[in-house]
Amino acid sequence: MKPKCLITLELPDDIRAPLEQRYEVLTWPGPERLSEQVLGELLSATEGLLCALSKPISASLLNSAKALKVVSTISVGVDHIDLAAATRKGIAVGHTPGVLVDSTADLALALMLGVTRRVAEADRWIRGANWTQGWQSDLLLGTDLSQAKVGVVGLGPIGQAVVKRLAGFGARVLVWNRTYRPVEGAEWVELDALFAESDIVTLHTALTEDTQHIASRARLAMMPDRAVLINTGRGPLVDESALLDELSSARLRAGLDVFQVEPLPIDHPFLSLDNVVLLPHVGSATAATRHAMVARALGNLHAGIAGERVPFCANPEVYRVSASAR
Ligand code: GLV
Repeated sequence: MKPKCLITLELPDDIRAPLEQRYEVLTWPGPERLSEQVLGELLSATEGLLCALSKPISASLLNSAKALKVVSTISVGVDHIDLAAATRKGIAVGHTPGVLVDSTADLALALMLGVTRRVAEADRWIRGANWTQGWQSDLLLGTDLSQAKVGVVGLGPIGQAVVKRLAGFGARVLVWNRTYRPVEGAEWVELDALFAESDIVTLHTALTEDTQHIASRARLAMMPDRAVLINTGRGPLVDESALLDELSSARLRAGLDVFQVEPLPIDHPFLSLDNVVLLPHVGSATAATRHAMVARALGNLHAGIAGERVPFCANPEVYRVSASAR
């Protein structure tokens, strides 16, 4: 009998077909969003779960999963999975670090340029049939990245890749990380000073209890007038209602790829503001990167179902826990 494997996202046929040869593949019954109850029922007899960010995997779901050996997410972030509960239950959580570093760092730079050079706003302006005169000396003036002081929060691989790119633009770079990590060509500062001194602050720290609202109301208020907040990490890193106040008063500008609630509700006040560039969580969305993420996630899934060590494991302590339980 083939092991059961549950997939909570649509996959192209060329990925799904080989999975169906190896496993009895379960999916959700309809096009509607998967409810907690249906997911729990589907999960009760599966050995492997292949998932992505849009479906939280809670402790209660993990508790209903009697045979589950591995949760493999097609993402580097694992904040949608209750890692502690998975570890307690001896379930390995696989993720996809490394392969999306460059794509995500590129997108952070794209947002910085998009906001400072008003790219999306200019596109809307031209499509609105506003361009009735030729070159105008004061049209859509922005600010220069080469003259900006950019504060990078978090120096994991993506933060470091952003620092490297900013050097190429000639920006002055300030950095902060939870543990001290000097970076060549960048100036280490305390977190509050980074917010107070930067023309652009870009967030690259993982979402944890400690980093939730790291861009707090108080820190946003410290940012200089017309400064820019870039978030390609996770929505809850930012106090979104405080950011909305700063954007509505036109004191700050922002470029956001991630939000407190995704998808962003269609009546969200951000949508009526010109000083924020909005993207639908596409940091890793290049064909090559998504291909590499899926390959890594499948490797994790296969290893976990086979009872082997998951190569990219977000909770390696699971192996210590299960070894000591033997
Ligand atoms: C994307 O946000 C990821 O965590 O891969």
